[in-house]
Amino acid sequence: MIEEIKKYREEASAAIEAASSLVELETAERSHLGKAAPLQGLKKSFGSLPPEDRKTTGMALKEANVSLAAQLANKKADYEKAERAKQLESERLDLTENTEALRVGRSHIITQAMQELEDTFVGMGFNVAEGPEVETDWHNFDALNIPVGHPARDGFDSLFVDYGAPGSTLLRTHTSPVQIRTMLEQKPPIYVITPGRVYRRDTADATHMPVFHQLECLVIDKDISMAHLAGTIEAFTTSYFGDGFTSRLRPNYFPFTEPSAEFDIQRPDGSWLELGGCGMVHPNVLKAGGIDSEEWSGFAFGFGIDRLASLKFGVTDLREMFSNDSRFLAQF
Ligand code: PHE
Repeated sequence: MIEEIKKYREEASAAIEAASSLVELETAERSHLGKAAPLQGLKKSFGSLPPEDRKTTGMALKEANVSLAAQLANKKADYEKAERAKQLESERLDLTENTEALRVGRSHIITQAMQELEDTFVGMGFNVAEGPEVETDWHNFDALNIPVGHPARDGFDSLFVDYGAPGSTLLRTHTSPVQIRTMLEQKPPIYVITPGRVYRRDTADATHMPVFHQLECLVIDKDISMAHLAGTIEAFTTSYFGDGFTSRLRPNYFPFTEPSAEFDIQRPDGSWLELGGCGMVHPNVLKAGGIDSEEWSGFAFGFGIDRLASLKFGVTDLREMFSNDSRFLAQF
């Protein structure tokens, strides 16, 4: 029987050694060390051994089992370690893997246009002034020589705010009320631009938005004439649009300027673009701003920024600029 023990032990040891995975190792364990294994079956034959042989045979069997169990445990430990390492590796979250560059935001095209316009005017010596978007009807109309009942009031399609007396508070319809605020705050000479958001009761379409942006320019100084106005618009035109561009004034009417004009920009291809309104500040407006019209005179002009930006960036529908679709905005 000693011979059989040796044989089965060698077979079992070889099988354990040959197992190349934890699963194969368990199979080897079952068939060579399990209850049904030939080595274990030998125990049943112990009774037929001569008593003097039982001890040595028993020792040999025990030794075989102990040594095989140790071999098995060693190998099992190796495989378990390897498998755990493999699992850890496969479940590892590689936090350094995200190589896509961080997405950096950008200024909206209106903001870009506004900043570029500001830079142009600041370069010409102007300061930037701001006023509130929710205005009193006095700043938005009365002080600008548009008293109650004046037909020009209706033309502005105002959005009134439910605050104070009915009709007394509104979302400013233009940046011109900032002319008044600036005159009341600063002493002449005044050279300011006032960019900002304005509101009108308009249905959104390709060329109109109920919320849009204007830039107003105000100059108050001694002996300011229409020539200064035309010259400033021309200087701005070439500085902002480029050398091939020029400008012209056409007579128009605004209650807050006298005389008043509309100004257009001519592109290098000869086509004209209507840009905004302008004129000499009306004496009533100077008076509302606390400025002596005998001593000082001035000019003002204002234009919309949105259409300018849409032309510059080749946007054909103003609504797209405010859809907040990042795929659209990321193009500029
Ligand atoms: N405020 C006028 C508008 O919104 C534009 C303008 C500004 C005209 C300054 C003359 C002087 O239409």
